[in-house]
Amino acid sequence: MPDPETTFPKRLLGQTGLLVSCLGLGTVKIGRNQGVRYPAGFTLPDDQSVRSLLAVAQDLGINLLDTAPAYGSSEERLGRLLENRGEWILCSKVGEEFRNGQSSFDFSGRQVRASVERSLQRLRTDYLDIVLIHSDGNDLELLEQGDCLEALQRLQQAGLIRAIGMSTKTVAGGLRAVELTDLVMVTYNPLAQDDKPVIEQAAELHKGVLIKKGLLSGHLDQVNQMDQSNRDPVESSLEFIFAQSGVSSVIVGTISTDHLAHNVASVNRVIRQDRSDAAIL
Ligand SMILES: NC(=O)c1ccc[n+]([C@@H]2O[C@H](COP(=O)([O-])OP(=O)(O)OC[C@H]3O[C@@H](n4cnc5c(N)ncnc54)[C@H](OP(=O)(O)O)[C@@H]3O)[C@@H](O)[C@H]2O)c1
Repeated sequence: MPDPETTFPKRLLGQTGLLVSCLGLGTVKIGRNQGVRYPAGFTLPDDQSVRSLLAVAQDLGINLLDTAPAYGSSEERLGRLLENRGEWILCSKVGEEFRNGQSSFDFSGRQVRASVERSLQRLRTDYLDIVLIHSDGNDLELLEQGDCLEALQRLQQAGLIRAIGMSTKTVAGGLRAVELTDLVMVTYNPLAQDDKPVIEQAAELHKGVLIKKGLLSGHLDQVNQMDQSNRDPVESSLEFIFAQSGVSSVIVGTISTDHLAHNVASVNRVIRQDRSDAAIL
């Protein structure tokens, strides 16, 4: 019987049947250090550091990893370095590529299928738990025109993908994605609250919600400036996010095991303040 005081909280991801840790690990920084908007430059961690990061994450109770073809070598490195694949929930994406320092986009059904097949190969697996449309900003068009969504639905029916959704950039697109798919990934933090109605709609329809940029992509000084306090900006950001009902998990990107442990402790504190949350295991 797991000890409720030490087991990291998990939540059901909408109606997908996937039980995700309330903190996921974003893996941009293990595969790409060009064209990113973090406060400081960094070198990609070596294989041993990535192995340690993944082992620490798993020890701390994290079971959700977020990657994408657009994150440079992230998928390939995870495929090579991840152990116990069956114990992880892997989220990847389709539509965006990043080559020679530049992003390009192709949301055709043909490219969606090719991209998923390549993700399966790179991640060395025969199924992906979650695949999101990696929006270029034209959320509604991508959902309602062309054959991107249909291609994902077919891959899901074929058993190659368990859950499909969209990483959105607009509120209208988020609301539509909540209707048409299993989950959304939205930006939400104390300084970016536009997607609140999307999270509320997802809660209403029992769809999954993953949060990106919850720690403002590392620009945490802005949180203290806003609330004029000396509180830990990590904890206040996470407290803000989990005060919103409907959030399944926050995907925080880090290549620091110290930061990872701090984030896990903060999520634990923030969520367990509300012991009435029935979804905590
Ligand atoms: N689908 C999309 O369009 C999209 C877009 C952006 C992001 N994402 C996903 O969401 C994930 C998170 O987004 P993000 O990486 O932009 O932003 P984020 O998670 O808000 O912030 C990551 C940054 O915060 C720093 N950080 C993490 N924990 C910290 C702590 N305890 N103290 C101080 N600094 C800390 C990290 O640096 P250290 O490495 O030094 O800890 C990193 O630079 C990404 O990894 C990716 O998986 C998706």
